[in-house]
Amino acid sequence: MKFSGKAVFELSKELPPEARGLIESVVEYLNRDYLKRGCGKDPSQGAEVVEWGFSGRELWMVFRCGKRVRIDDAVLRTRKVLSEKLGRELRVGVRGVRLVDCSIELDTEIRVSLRLPFVKSVERVDGKTVIRLGGLELGDLKKPVFVRLLRLIEEKEARAKWGGKAEHWQLLKESGRKKLTPPPEDPNRILEEAGWIRRLSIGQYLYTPPFTRILNALRRAFIEEVVKPLGFVEAVFPKMYPLRVGLKTGHLKGVINSMLFASLPKSYNIEEFEELIDYMYVMDDLPPEELQKYLRPPSYFLCFAQCEPFYWFFENEVLDDDSLPIKWYDASGPSFRWEAGGLHGVERVIEFHRIEVVWLGKPQQVIEIRNQLLQRYEHLMDRVLDMEWRWAWVTPWFYEQSGVAEEKLELDIDRPGTIDFEAYLPHRGPREDRKSWLEIGNISIHGTKFTEPFRIRHNKGETLWTGCSGFGSERWAIAFIAQHGFDPKNWPEQFLKYFEEEPMPKSVRGVTYPKTQRGKELLQWLEKLFARGS
Ligand code: SER
Ligand code: ZN
Repeated sequence: MKFSGKAVFELSKELPPEARGLIESVVEYLNRDYLKRGCGKDPSQGAEVVEWGFSGRELWMVFRCGKRVRIDDAVLRTRKVLSEKLGRELRVGVRGVRLVDCSIELDTEIRVSLRLPFVKSVERVDGKTVIRLGGLELGDLKKPVFVRLLRLIEEKEARAKWGGKAEHWQLLKESGRKKLTPPPEDPNRILEEAGWIRRLSIGQYLYTPPFTRILNALRRAFIEEVVKPLGFVEAVFPKMYPLRVGLKTGHLKGVINSMLFASLPKSYNIEEFEELIDYMYVMDDLPPEELQKYLRPPSYFLCFAQCEPFYWFFENEVLDDDSLPIKWYDASGPSFRWEAGGLHGVERVIEFHRIEVVWLGKPQQVIEIRNQLLQRYEHLMDRVLDMEWRWAWVTPWFYEQSGVAEEKLELDIDRPGTIDFEAYLPHRGPREDRKSWLEIGNISIHGTKFTEPFRIRHNKGETLWTGCSGFGSERWAIAFIAQHGFDPKNWPEQFLKYFEEEPMPKSVRGVTYPKTQRGKELLQWLEKLFARGS
């Protein structure tokens, strides 16, 4: 990222011709020292005055800047030095500054909307992008919109250099091979055909009581073996949030393409719906376009990460040592994710269920809690569920410094980032194939990613961090069955303890359900296995 531009400083009076020497010395000082401060080891990352001149009450300078001393910073620094020098030596004041012909050059191609403030044109040629900004006054350089515009451009550049990869994957730990007893095929197919689960709409299933029992046993095992021993306590979070919350968490900027939104009705007065209701009476239909006329634009998004309300709840709160750390979990409801074409069984759905574990504290506390959770997760995966698993350090691109992610391979899991938990699905193929592994959960420490925008503070000014971890119920269930099959005889003792807490409920068996002959046979087979197991 390089900047260039011409700054015009307005002076309180004309400069005399002999001012030239003074300005020459100012420029020499700027280029040698003041505009290089903070540029690290590479002077080209700093700023430089490459041309200058004056006439009448105007002094102009052309700047070239690297990304460490951006043009806004360079102009403000220069203004400070000029004010001091011209004021002291010539009694000339510096009034305003205009930035004309300012352009940002990137050695990668990005797209920037022309509807943004200050953006005059965007040219993309030969792998480069030149963004011209216009009409910048002194006050604009300090405005949050301008600073955010530069941050947006920086982020786009970082994302382009990251090469479209969503994340960086590095193996952290693995269980090693285990003796598995997989079912004859993809468990989703067996469950669906035997009628234990039924797809009611795109990416939405109803789980009948027998499958619910398996899900619940896994959820209980997680709560009893991982969450409760560490002192986490249950809270109930809402599942629909105002847009403002998504702006602060960053989800709206990052994953808006996979989020679902909700609208309120325009009116509470049912009489205003009369025409629409009449239409439904007669046509027995409700075209969504008609409905839309009666609704306000969407002002909520549906639960996406499930930890959003945690940060929202603590927004603007000041906490002290006695209140920290805070350790909660929410198991109260679904999350929603629009997956477009990527749906598969109950492991990739639009409405799914998850237990979300959240914590807040000082950095050391947050790291320590994450480490304790990792130990308990390992206990759950190995001792209770006896699963074949692996953990990977995944760095989403936005946690990385632009461009350097590729080289920076040394691992430090105590900085903000995410560990994914993956389980091997034998029906998908050999272990060597990445596609044979399913992400069943994750654990993150966020640093100040949420405490900063939500202004969650400590009374003595100490830094606060957060962490969260998601246990995707459906995915754990599919992975467990994919490895141990449907016969409870082959399930680990430690897990049967949870499974046998409740009796096996009756399956649905009717004239038209399950749908196929094979489905009816599969159901019979399942019922036999579970009759023996319970
Ligand atoms: N909130 C985290 C996520 O969405 C963990 O569940 O991935
Ligand atoms: Zn979360």
